[in-house]
Amino acid sequence: MSAQSPADTPSRLVGGTEYSWCRAVPGGTGITVLALLFSKPPNLSYLQSCIHKLQNSHPILRSKLRFNPSTKCFSISTPSGSPTLQIQTSDLPQSFHLTIEHEMNTNPWQNHNDLETENETETETDVMFASCYSLPEEKRWAVVLRLHTAVCDRAAAAFLLRELLGLFCELDGRDRGIVEESELGLAIEECIPAGKGNKPFWARGVDMIGYSVNSFRFSNLGIKEIGIPDSTRFVRLKIGSEDTDRILSGCKLKGIKLFGLLAAAGFMAAHASKNFPDEKWEKYSLATLIDCRSHLDPVLSDHHIGFYHSVIINSHDVKGGEDLWDLAQRIYTSLTNAKNNNKHFTDMADLNFLMCKAIENPSLTPSSSLRTSLISVFEDSLIENTNQIHKEVGLLDCIGCSSVRSVGPSLAIFDTIRDGELDCACVYPSPTHSREQMQDLVDHMKKILLDGSSVPQSKLL
Ligand SMILES: *[C@@H]1O[C@H](CO)[C@@H](O)[C@H](O)[C@H]1NC(C)=O
Ligand SMILES: *[C@@H]1O[C@H](CO)[C@@H](O)[C@H](O)[C@H]1NC(C)=O
Repeated sequence: MSAQSPADTPSRLVGGTEYSWCRAVPGGTGITVLALLFSKPPNLSYLQSCIHKLQNSHPILRSKLRFNPSTKCFSISTPSGSPTLQIQTSDLPQSFHLTIEHEMNTNPWQNHNDLETENETETETDVMFASCYSLPEEKRWAVVLRLHTAVCDRAAAAFLLRELLGLFCELDGRDRGIVEESELGLAIEECIPAGKGNKPFWARGVDMIGYSVNSFRFSNLGIKEIGIPDSTRFVRLKIGSEDTDRILSGCKLKGIKLFGLLAAAGFMAAHASKNFPDEKWEKYSLATLIDCRSHLDPVLSDHHIGFYHSVIINSHDVKGGEDLWDLAQRIYTSLTNAKNNNKHFTDMADLNFLMCKAIENPSLTPSSSLRTSLISVFEDSLIENTNQIHKEVGLLDCIGCSSVRSVGPSLAIFDTIRDGELDCACVYPSPTHSREQMQDLVDHMKKILLDGSSVPQSKLL
C-alpha cells in the first residue's frame, strides 16, 4: 500500500479515519493548535532545535501530506534528511486569545480539498508548523504549534507538549531520553482487535439510516447566521482549584467521568438559552471522542503520535429543571453501554462516511451550518502540572484546541485539569454562533457546575 514516491521515502496511504480528516481540514475543521505563553522572549534557535529533535524521534511529525489529484488519494510520506521546520515570527499586535484564534483560522492545507480539480499537479504540505508572536501590549510572547489532526490527536498533542517543554527546559543541555518511534505508525483501522469491528450487513444499513435521519431531529443552539461558518472562535471556562476539587470528588462519588458532567451542564445551558417552558423536551446530540490507544491491537500509548480516537454519537432528551448529576449519570451510562457494545469500533466507518457526506452536502445539516452534534467532549480529561522549571523559562499559560469551521459540533469542549484547576477551551464556529451567545452559554455552564458541586456530598450518594 505505498503511494508513488521516491524509493527511499517511507510512505503510506491514509486510513479511513485519517481520510476523513484529510477531507475536513481543508474546510477548516481539525487544525490543532498548541499555544504557550511566555513572560520572556523564548530562545527561538534553541526552541527550533528542540522541535527538530521531536521530529527526528517521531517521523510522522516531519512528514508531508500529499494529495494526488489523478488518483484522488491522500498519503503521508516522510522525506529523508533533517527536518526543515522554521519557526515563523510575527508581531501582529494581538492578545494571546486572538493569536490562538488566528492560528486556528490559518490553513496551509486548504488547497487539498478540490477532488474535482483538473490540475494534475500533486500537492504536498507539511503536517506541522511553528510560530512565535510577540505581544507588545501584554509584554508577552506566544509560541504556537499548528498541526494537521490526521497526524496528531489530542492525546498525542498533550504528549508533544510535555516532550517539548521537557527538552526546552533542560537548558543545561543534558539530554532527556525522549521516546523514539522508528517509523510511521499504522492507521487506526489496522489496529482494531480481531472481531471487534465487525457488524452484520443489515445492522450497518439500519444504523446509517438512524444516523442520517436523526441528525435532522436533533435540536441545536440558536443559529445566528445560516450557511457554512467562515471561522473558528473560542471562549475559555476556568474554575478555581477548590471548586474543581469539589466537582472531581462529586464525579468520583457518583462513579462517573467529568465529560458527563460537562456535557450535562452544556445541555442544561442550551435548553435554558431557548427560554422554553421547563416541561418542553429537546433532543440534543453529543459526540464523545474516545482515545482508543489502550484498546487497540497492538496496544499503543500516547507517544505513538497519530490519530487514534474514535467517536460515539449519542442523543439525550433534556427538559428544563433537570438535576445536573442525574443527567450526567445518564450521559455517562449511555456512553459506557455503547462502548461495551464496541460501537467505537463498529461505527467508525459509518461515521467517517457521514462526515464526508456532510462536507459534500452541507444542506443535509441544520441551516447548512455543517453542525453534526450540539457538543463534543473527550471521554478523558487531560491532566497537566506545571513545575518550577516551567516557571524559570517564563511559561505562564498554555492552551490546546482544534478548529471546527467545517463539519463539527456547535461547541467543542477541550478540557484540561491544569495544576488542579479546570480549564476548558470552548471552541465554536462563527458567525453561526456569536461570541456573545457563546460567552453567555459558557458563563451559564460554569454557574450550573458551581451550583451542582456545592450540594452536600451526602446527597450525591
Ligand atoms: C540560544 O540557545 C543557544 C543554544 O542552542 C545558545 O548558543 C545561544 O547563546 C542562546 N541565545 C540566547 C540569546 O540566549
Ligand atoms: C496546478 O497547481 C500547482 C500548485 O498548486 C500550480 O503551481 C500550477 O500552476 C497549477 N497548474 C495549472 C495548469 O493550473
